[in-house]
Order: sequence, then structure tokens, then C-alpha cells
Amino acid sequence: MALRFEILKQDGAARLGRLYTPHGVVDTPVFMPVGTQGTVKAMTPEELRALGAQMILANTYHLYLRPGTEIIREAGGLHRFMHWDGPILTDSGGYQVFSLAPLRRLTAEGVIFRSHLDGSEHLFTPEKVVALQEALGSDIAMVLDECPPYPASREEVTAAVARTTAWAERSLAAQSAAQALFGIVQGGVYRDLREQSARELVALDFPGYAIGGLSVGEPKELMYQVLDWTVPLLPPEKPRYLMGVGHPDDIIEAVARGVDMFDCVLPTRLGRHGGALTPFGRLNIRNACYARDFGPLVPGCDCYACQNYSRAYLHHLVRAGEILGLRLLTTHNLHFLLKLTAEIRAAIARGELGLLRARWRERCGGNRT
Ligand code: GUN
Ligand code: ZN
Repeated sequence: MALRFEILKQDGAARLGRLYTPHGVVDTPVFMPVGTQGTVKAMTPEELRALGAQMILANTYHLYLRPGTEIIREAGGLHRFMHWDGPILTDSGGYQVFSLAPLRRLTAEGVIFRSHLDGSEHLFTPEKVVALQEALGSDIAMVLDECPPYPASREEVTAAVARTTAWAERSLAAQSAAQALFGIVQGGVYRDLREQSARELVALDFPGYAIGGLSVGEPKELMYQVLDWTVPLLPPEKPRYLMGVGHPDDIIEAVARGVDMFDCVLPTRLGRHGGALTPFGRLNIRNACYARDFGPLVPGCDCYACQNYSRAYLHHLVRAGEILGLRLLTTHNLHFLLKLTAEIRAAIARGELGLLRARWRERCGGNRT
């Protein structure tokens, strides 16, 4: 068995758990930093470890196009290639083909798309995407799915759900390695389609389930509504992963509804644009008001950036386009989200997630997080 999941404690619908993978044990709820191209942008694996990262995400779509999955297999797999010996989850490319590729065509076999890099044409089938992820050697692989945009018509989403189920079945049949493969629930914001998608995938008995097609532009309240409909239909003993979600308030709300795993580019992408996550909402260090602010980025934060540098210095670095500025902001943002998930785990252990949730709402009410 490639994956074992253990629930240690429940607090309402929230779960404190442990995920046993071939590359180590992960405490859940977990936030997975995103390493799309086989690197969490600007961070070494040692730095990620020191920040408390337990598991990272990589993208099949990007690594297949560049450098090519065969080169990574020859290197001894993605762990060896990128020098990260902890667990890795790979996304299937389903989402990227539908969001990044400039052109795509669905066929009975799979999806034909053009590379966003050089315009070359490629075919992804559920079977091929399983084989690509086996070559990468990730601890958890995802099935090829169809993630419709928001808004999308009931007809479009109905077709996407049918295709996602058919592809999920073919993915399971194509597996040759003892790699944990997760199904992905789609269904947009239509309750009956979410229910149908969950029911069909649960019948296929995956070792874990992802909820996809969210955080694609729908209002937050609608995303929480979809979680209320979907999560209770998933097997309680298996891990649940909300794809592409990582704003602090969304993580707290999803954990309270029974989600165990998260990934998001927010901390790394925001950092590269001068943005910092704070307990009171976001801050942009490029803002002129920080030019002479000699206090820390976030008072009380125990990350390396806040312990050693001032807002004025970070403002200067980012304005001057210095690499260190982006590295320091990324460090702070990853620390912030990884520490938040550690606090969430501690709160569940004490049976006090409700308290953490109320405090967060009070402090951040109305601010974008
Ligand atoms: N990342 C964020 N959302 C999705 C989704 O719906 N499907 C996949 N494969 N990846 C995602
Ligand atoms: Zn900090």
C-alpha cells in the first residue's frame, strides 16, 4: 500500500491526521508549497524544510514540456533531480491544459493541446498522464480531469463531470506502479453535479479525493457552499485535498468543513510581487509609506525576514529589483502559511478550531487575505 491515512482527532468536521507516504509522514491539515517546475520558486529544499514544509507539489504539464519527463526519469526521478527527499504530489496537467495551453481539442482518447512554450502539439490521455507521473516518481499522483471555467453552463459542466469520471476509471486501469492516485471531484457550482461526480468517483475506490474546479473566480461564499455539499459525500477515512486553495481564510473555512490538504501559489507569487501576508490582511512593501519604516515586516513574526530586516530595507530591495527582496518576502509568506497550518493542527488537537476561526474573522473581517 503506497499510502496510509490515520485520523488522530476530530473537532467538529475538522480532522487532525497523519499521511504516511514512501518519502515520509505528513501531519494534516497540510499546506503544500507549489513547485510547478520542480522548484518552489527562489527557495532551496533546505530552506523549505527549515520553514516547516512537509510536502510539495509539482506539475506534470510543465515538467513534461520542459525538461521532459524522460530526463527526470533518467536522473532517478523528481526527488533526486530536484534534491527534495520529502513527499511530492504531482498535479495531472488537467487544470494546466485547460488554463494555460493556448489551444485544446477534446477527443475520445484525451485532450490535444498546444504547448504555451513553443506551440508544439501534444496529446494527454488519462493513461499517458498516469505513466508520466510514474516516471516522475511522485508519492501522490492526480488523475487527468476536466476543470471547467467559472462561470460555465450546466451543459458544459455535465459533460466535464462525465469525462472526468470516464478518465478516472481509465486512470485506475492504467496504473502499474504502487503510486497513490487521487480522484478529482468536479461539478462546478451545481449541487447535483457535485453529488454525481463525488458518487461516481467514490464508487471507484481511490485512496484519496481531491475537490477541483474551485477558486476559479467564484465568490468565496459559493466555494464554501460547494464544500458543504461535497465533503460529506467523501469517505471519512480517506484524505481530502482542496486543489489550488490557499488564502488563509479559505484554508480555515475548508479545514472546518473536513478538508486535509491544500496547495496554492499565493505565498510564492505574492512574494515575487512585493506582497506580504499578515495577520491583518495583505501588505505591499512597494508602497511609498514603507520607505522610512524601520520596523519589521510583521511585528512579532519569527521568520528570518522579519527577525533581521526592516520594511524600509525590503522596500528598497523590491523597488531596486534585487533578488534578495523576493526571497525574503517568499520566506515570510511561506512561514506565515506553514505556521498557520501548524496552529490549525494544534487548535484541532485542543478542540479549539472554532476559537481560532472566530479570532481570525474578527481580526481580518473584510480584509482580503
Ligand atoms: N488545480 C486547481 N484546481 C484544479 C482542478 O480542478 N484540477 C486539477 N487537475 N488541478 C487543479
Ligand atoms: Zn515574517
